[in-house]
Amino acid sequence: MNTALKIDTTSVQQEMENLSARLIQWAKEYYTLDAPTVCDLKYDTEFKALLALENDFPEFINPNSPTQRVGGDRLDGFEQIRHRIPMLSLNNAYTDDEQTSFFEKAGISPDSFIMAEPKLDGLAISLYYVNRELAYAATRGDGQIGEDVTHNVKTIHSIPVVLDSSAPDILEVRGEVVMQKHIFNKLNATAATSNGVQRSFANCRNAAAGTLRQLDPAKAAKRPLDFFAYGVAESSETLPTTQSARLDFIKALGFPIHAAAKKIPLNEIGTYAADIYKKRDGLNVDVDGVVFKVDDIADQERLGFQSRAPKWAIARKFPADAQETTLEACDWTVGASGTLTPVARLTPVQVGGVTISNATLHNLPEVRRLGLAIGDTVLVARAADVIPKVTAVCARPDNRRAIEVPSHCPACASPVRQIEGQVAYKCTGGSACSAQAIAMIKRFARRDIMDIDGLGDKLVEQLYDAGYIKTPSDLYYLCFHAVAELPGMGKKSADKLKKGIEASRASSLGKVLASFNIREVGRSACRELAKHFNNDIKAIMAASLEELLEVELFGPVMAEIAYTTFRSDAFQKELDRLRFGGVQWEETVSVADSNIQQSLAGEVWVLTGTFSSMTRSEAEAKLAAKGCRIASGVSKNVTTLCAGAKAGSKLTKAEKLGITVVDEDHLMSVLAS
Ligand code: IVH
Repeated sequence: MNTALKIDTTSVQQEMENLSARLIQWAKEYYTLDAPTVCDLKYDTEFKALLALENDFPEFINPNSPTQRVGGDRLDGFEQIRHRIPMLSLNNAYTDDEQTSFFEKAGISPDSFIMAEPKLDGLAISLYYVNRELAYAATRGDGQIGEDVTHNVKTIHSIPVVLDSSAPDILEVRGEVVMQKHIFNKLNATAATSNGVQRSFANCRNAAAGTLRQLDPAKAAKRPLDFFAYGVAESSETLPTTQSARLDFIKALGFPIHAAAKKIPLNEIGTYAADIYKKRDGLNVDVDGVVFKVDDIADQERLGFQSRAPKWAIARKFPADAQETTLEACDWTVGASGTLTPVARLTPVQVGGVTISNATLHNLPEVRRLGLAIGDTVLVARAADVIPKVTAVCARPDNRRAIEVPSHCPACASPVRQIEGQVAYKCTGGSACSAQAIAMIKRFARRDIMDIDGLGDKLVEQLYDAGYIKTPSDLYYLCFHAVAELPGMGKKSADKLKKGIEASRASSLGKVLASFNIREVGRSACRELAKHFNNDIKAIMAASLEELLEVELFGPVMAEIAYTTFRSDAFQKELDRLRFGGVQWEETVSVADSNIQQSLAGEVWVLTGTFSSMTRSEAEAKLAAKGCRIASGVSKNVTTLCAGAKAGSKLTKAEKLGITVVDEDHLMSVLAS
């Protein structure tokens, strides 16, 4: 071609070498070191760029190019196993178009069936059975030769070590070893310290890989892994003729198949991908996409393979949930109770289609656990509808600066103190601190507290700065003519706010008590308090310590704090102002109690993790309306634990106590009934 003649071939060759070197390094970090420094999308984009160049300039293909192999070196310390059938990779599609055109090119007719499976983010494993006994288990390695991890695989309870007599003499099953999210969260929370730096795994995949490559099986057994099968590579007996039937076949032999795997017509693959994408946070294992496989094995054989991937299957990858960026600074925000929270200021980066420029770091132990300092390259993750999070440090430059707690409050300059026996550092300024006062009003307006429609965070700040509100009760004395005059407001916005504030006057005593943000006395405890004293605020304020201790959920510390708070001038004054401002409760609180459908009466539920269909507090309110009690912690009195995504220690405790554990789907069906 004429244009090709004009290309500087030396620089093309150089570019190919550079791409190749970068990809090899990234693959090593991903597969061998379990410490990726770039996201999958970046890897795949550069991989595709190299493939395109190799296509145009085959004479420059380096035999070591990552396109020529599957990726990942072998680790020292393990026996090597040559796969009898290479363990290949999958081509990726990132868009609906790429997904559709893949099957069009393959000549698959729209009425053909596709086996749709979640793409589990763990590591591929081959399980080889001879005479119905597990002969060996091997990692993928470079696709040709893997590592013998039989000893560690035998510690995975979902993998059968012996098969029953219906199994063929020779059988090779392939699938993914994964670590469940709650196990990963627990493991990371207690990450081992090495060289004075807390080492945590970046994600479930790295944790699963690290565990499987643990040379000591006793240690591996302490970090429970799971397994899901997705294919049969070899069998001494004739196998069923479709992928779906083959999965059924191995399922009957005792291999777990992920519940979301489903045989569907080709025209439903888009809906399937969208559905799994929506549900992925609620699944107990990490899923980074879906895999579509032509179901008919004869079709698969006809289509065959191209270099490292089959032409009959494609992975539809989900948008990256994590990206790298730089930690530019650490700010400290002050919450309603004065607690200082570190917030990472990041070089803006796109994660899952949203620009992220800051992320909460939770508290100082979390900063230390991550081994984080200013200037570091960090991995920022964002699950759907969840606040962005710094999940790992990718690089630590020499000139990095340690993160320290400020000695004085950044908002009011009062001294900062660490409360004895607590993790948190607090501003000592109390309600005189503008940051605390503003956070308190924002909290008051929250949906699960006083639910003030039309009062967003920005407006709270504006009203405070204008001097119109200092405490939440001031909201009920606002002059809306003045509010309408504020920059950017106008009559319409002021009217909306007025309506929202008016509607919030009809509340419940539990919510009003919760609006005070009494230390240790959470929303459920406030609800119990109101219920116990039949919504009689006078009785609550006059209650002795002993009487408060009789309230469900109350322990000595809570009773003591509540007792003192009810006797403080600030509490009494603010409560009076709320009541004079028109806040009422008696009539509304009993709605739940008088509800005719008390179908959950006598039950005690705990909700943990995040939910995709509604917020946790919405779900709690709906459950409470069905007559059950909502507890904040797991104890033997709890009848049901509902675990959403990222459920952690509560789930583990519930499992230990043998409490019924249900998922979000079950919760939704209970609420719908
Ligand atoms: S099939 C020749 N099915 O994705 C086809 N792979 O990017 C080989 N994976 O190495 C793979 N879930 O580790 C297949 N349902 C699934 C999968 C799956 C996860 C992983 C597997 C593979 C990688 C390819």
